[in-house]
Amino acid sequence: MIKINENFLELQDSYLFATISRKVAEFTKENPNCKVIKLGIGDVTRPIPEAVLDAMHKATDEMGRKEDFRGYGPEQGYDFLREKIRDNDFKTRGVDIDIDEIFISDGAKCDCGNIVDIFAQDNKVAITDPVYPVYLDTNVMSGRSGKYDSKTGKYENIVYIPVTSENDFVPEFPKEKVDMIYLCYPNNPTGTTLNKEQLKKWVDYAKENKAIILFDAAYEAFISDEDVPHSIYEIEGAKEVAIEFRSFSKTAGFTGLRCAFIVIPKELNGYTEKGEKVQLNKLWNRRHCTKFNGVSYVTQRAAEAVYSEEGKKQIKENINYYKENAKIIKKGLEEAGYTVYGGTNSPYVWLKLPDGIKSWDFFDKLLKEANVVGTPGVGFGPSGEGYFRLTGFGTKENTEEAIERIKNMK
Ligand code: MLT
Repeated sequence: MIKINENFLELQDSYLFATISRKVAEFTKENPNCKVIKLGIGDVTRPIPEAVLDAMHKATDEMGRKEDFRGYGPEQGYDFLREKIRDNDFKTRGVDIDIDEIFISDGAKCDCGNIVDIFAQDNKVAITDPVYPVYLDTNVMSGRSGKYDSKTGKYENIVYIPVTSENDFVPEFPKEKVDMIYLCYPNNPTGTTLNKEQLKKWVDYAKENKAIILFDAAYEAFISDEDVPHSIYEIEGAKEVAIEFRSFSKTAGFTGLRCAFIVIPKELNGYTEKGEKVQLNKLWNRRHCTKFNGVSYVTQRAAEAVYSEEGKKQIKENINYYKENAKIIKKGLEEAGYTVYGGTNSPYVWLKLPDGIKSWDFFDKLLKEANVVGTPGVGFGPSGEGYFRLTGFGTKENTEEAIERIKNMK
């Protein structure tokens, strides 16, 4: 008899964005003449920058020539890309990262999900609440969550750290001891940030508690405030306690191309049951080589072009375009009388719903009355109830139209 991994039975409903897609598909089928504007999932709409496209074309041609053809590449990624990452993403910020601490992959979602493989099942996991659902779901799948309590909307073994307007979206240290701490900054979904001093406290906390910080920096390209770190490694001591996830998706429009990377410093250790230190970089390398055969050469050449002078310029234009959209959303919603957060160092605008309105009810109302899709806050966790997320990743025209429609809603 083939037995299943019963942890999967602990998962709630379907994946958040799959539920939204299903609801939108149903609505569109029933209302074929409505022009639905999607500001739900954080998916980019600007075409791939020209410098990146040129590099892809060139690499594609190489693959068709006998003398240039390449088969399997290194699982960890080509050095030409890892060197560019080291020099541009870290050296420029005063951070020394070796290329063998960088692992190229096909997405930060996969990396965030796969990383749980290298940690023991009885580690205590802490997530901020609301949170990007992948951190939680993958720990449910791997058996760290315990049972779900439908009354609280929480899993019994997960430590939830609320980040709401009540604490200015600054996570407080958990009362009980935790081992794995997920932090995402600039934050998805709230669009808020931590400054260096605030992040330093978490690094110190992790050091004191021999915990690890799983730091998702997928939205770092949207930072404009000086005091907001782009990488956790800008904080002294972070290399001993943190893994960082980065993505080309939101930075350079790679949601359809797929390329990301993870940084695991060699100073970073985990422990065996007996308390012996083990380098996490080694464990991850072993896992990566076994389960992954590398990102395609063409895609890695495309990612390399992100760091060329032209590439940097074109990418900046796209980021500014999305940031401008976020500004339009923020300003428009404020004019309509809503309280909003985020949207400055982030493509996400986090909207506080008027008292008593539930996130999913607002989702339905917005879809029905304004034909606009957003993401219900509660989909990111119980502390997201009463909030709603809109993204700046749409086109400018659609963003403006969506805001006008929301303003005119009764
Ligand atoms: C989001 O909308 O939260 C993200 O785009 C989802 C993702 O990156 O997987």
